[in-house]
Amino acid sequence: MESTTLYNHRNPFLATLLSRLPLCHEKCERDAYHLVMSIRGSHWHYTCGDSLAIFPKNSSEEVSQVLQGLQLNASEQVSLPKEGGTKTLQIALEEIFCITHLTKHFLEFLGQNISSQEDISRYRTIPFGDTKDFEIFLKNHTLLQILELFPSFRCNSQELADHLCPIAPRLYSIASSPTLFPDEIHLAIVIVRYRDIHGSERQGLSTRYLSPQGTRIGDTIRCFLVHSHFGIPEDIRRDMIMVGPGTGVAPFRSFIWEYAAKRSAGEKTGRTWLFFGSHHRHSNFYYEEEWNTLMANGSLTHLDLAFSRDQEEKIYVQHKLLEHGLEVAQWILGGANFYICGDAAFMAKDVEAALGQILFEHGSIQDTKTYLQTMRKEKRYMKDVY
Ligand SMILES: Cc1cc2nc3c(=O)[nH]c(=O)nc-3n(C[C@H](O)[C@H](O)[C@H](O)COP(=O)(O)OP(=O)(O)OC[C@H]3O[C@@H](n4cnc5c(N)ncnc54)[C@H](O)[C@@H]3O)c2cc1C
Ligand SMILES: NC(=O)c1ccc[n+]([C@@H]2O[C@H](COP(=O)([O-])OP(=O)(O)OC[C@H]3O[C@@H](n4cnc5c(N)ncnc54)[C@H](OP(=O)(O)O)[C@@H]3O)[C@@H](O)[C@H]2O)c1
Repeated sequence: MESTTLYNHRNPFLATLLSRLPLCHEKCERDAYHLVMSIRGSHWHYTCGDSLAIFPKNSSEEVSQVLQGLQLNASEQVSLPKEGGTKTLQIALEEIFCITHLTKHFLEFLGQNISSQEDISRYRTIPFGDTKDFEIFLKNHTLLQILELFPSFRCNSQELADHLCPIAPRLYSIASSPTLFPDEIHLAIVIVRYRDIHGSERQGLSTRYLSPQGTRIGDTIRCFLVHSHFGIPEDIRRDMIMVGPGTGVAPFRSFIWEYAAKRSAGEKTGRTWLFFGSHHRHSNFYYEEEWNTLMANGSLTHLDLAFSRDQEEKIYVQHKLLEHGLEVAQWILGGANFYICGDAAFMAKDVEAALGQILFEHGSIQDTKTYLQTMRKEKRYMKDVY
């Protein structure tokens, strides 16, 4: 992570949450929000494609339950091994230490501090010897769940602090134009919600924190700016093809508004083509009104949509790309940049395969792998996938 100097991982900035609007038009399986944060006073100059790293907080109720389970005093001071200084145990557990994902190191410490025969027998069933099963065990046991499983576990406040890992910051693609909003950062987030193997409903730590359950308007959020290789072309006369399903659309909102801002300042900008995909048109068409505005004023040249669950068969962004293969190839051969943002596991690979097929079929390019490598070197083919 490359960050700007004044505020960084060790010295995060306190951004103020100004607003949080739902991105879904109606109740849907996965809540999504548009967040606006003030970065006034940070002296940051973010650019399109940068990300914001956020330090989430644990829920104070969960922390209280942990303290109750361990019979520890919330106001006791603990020293922070990595950060330096001291904090009360309550604050340290809310802000510094991860209690939702534990480590092998912590479970070894647990083994040394349980006393009942029942707990010792249960401890022996933890699959330490099997990497895959052990990983599943870790993913499915928060500190609170461990305390319920091993009620005889006891330690003092400092020992607890010494054996937990710090909370890792989460990255979010910046969705605002730096020209239009130099003092604000906008984000598009989807709340991560799932059931663990015990059937308990769980939420992602950071997305819960960024949801109405975790923060109120006016609260401050610890964060730092992370610069990226990803961004609009140096020569803004270049066309851009952007493929961003789901939250992958976030940086492209920034790119397109940035081109729009430059256009209204009298600069000549290239054409823009957005491929967006999501579950349902009626509920998950993020930023629909904005795309309409941008289309109407000519800042968004083309918009192609793939709503995967509105019909029997799946329709994905790569199907839309293939449908327009000839024109996509013409744009690329004419010098357009090509961008992908969002899911790394499946979507980005499938979109890249479709791009190769398009260049082969409509661009008369035999060695598409080498062609894409060259585009990458020229910073004309960029991915920001996670
Ligand atoms: C460069 C970059 C840009 C990003 N931009 C955005 C963005 O713009 N918007 C956005 O919303 N996110 C974005 N992300 C993702 C973001 O950083 C977080 O990973 C995401 O918000 C989840 O964080 P969390 O703390 O809520 O979840 P965590 O508490 O970290 O939980 C995630 C974990 O939950 C578990 N899990 C999740 N789903 C399931 C399931 N169905 N079954 C079992 N286990 C499951 C998995 O173990 C997973 O690792 C980006 C990531 C990167 C790297
Ligand atoms: N690391 C993390 O913890 C984390 C957190 C957040 C997001 N992510 C990843 O980032 C991605 C974006 O998240 P999101 O919730 O905003 O998106 P999403 O809603 O899960 O997906 C957006 C659209 O992409 C479709 N899709 C599924 N597989 C695809 C494929 N192979 N090719 C093209 N499109 C495909 C989905 O269709 P269907 O669902 O109908 O198949 C949906 O219509 C997710 O897919 C997720 O894997 C990871």
